[in-house]
Amino acid sequence: MVKENDFDGIAWCYDFMAKLIFGERLYQASIQWLETLNKLDTVVVLGGGSGKILKQLTHVDRVIFIEKSAKMIKLAQTSTFANVQFICADFLEYALEDESTHIVICPFFLDVFTPFQLGEVLDKIARILKKKGTLFVSDFQCTTWWSKQLIKLMYVFFGMSTRIAARQLAPLNTLILDKEFKTSAHLFRKDGMIFSKSYTKINTD
Ligand SMILES: C[S@@+](CC[C@H](N)C(=O)[O-])C[C@H]1O[C@@H](n2cnc3c(N)ncnc32)[C@H](O)[C@@H]1O
Repeated sequence: MVKENDFDGIAWCYDFMAKLIFGERLYQASIQWLETLNKLDTVVVLGGGSGKILKQLTHVDRVIFIEKSAKMIKLAQTSTFANVQFICADFLEYALEDESTHIVICPFFLDVFTPFQLGEVLDKIARILKKKGTLFVSDFQCTTWWSKQLIKLMYVFFGMSTRIAARQLAPLNTLILDKEFKTSAHLFRKDGMIFSKSYTKINTD
């Protein structure tokens, strides 16, 4: 069976390629605001890749790092972080308790999904977050003509190398705001093409 979103084959060169194209911008976008997290927060990192952002989470007592690629998670585990629980699993299939999490971090994770899958992913994120919990998203958006071409090219590359589920970049911000979230902060890099956004879960009852 063809596995979709399979980053095993490119785990060894993913960080190198990201740095070659974007310098430190993707990393900087992923770690935005992480120093503001509290020691007692329970933090879930989704699709954290080789675990670069874990260095910025050492002040938090409990981090749950969920990553589907066994090769990526192996890279993440090369540094020992006593506060991190590494879970090699598909986020949608891994059982997490409702309202158990203060913070969910999605560093360039949501862009791999189709709008339909994103509905499920965002519903699950909303479910595991506590009331007024925070969702940090760093990702891409199309702004200039160049950004559209570069993003198109990335989807062709990831389509071939990882069989990424998405064919194109979904309107992430719109889909997130359609769920139980409101924006609490945002910051843009590289002509707006890279964003870091912080969303707060809206209390629905
Ligand atoms: C575009 S990469 C980003 C990696 C890392 N966050 C970074 O910024 O360098 C997306 C990551 O999400 C992981 N992933 C894809 N689908 C997943 C799923 N359903 N559950 C957990 N991780 C998943 C992939 O294995 C990959 O490491």
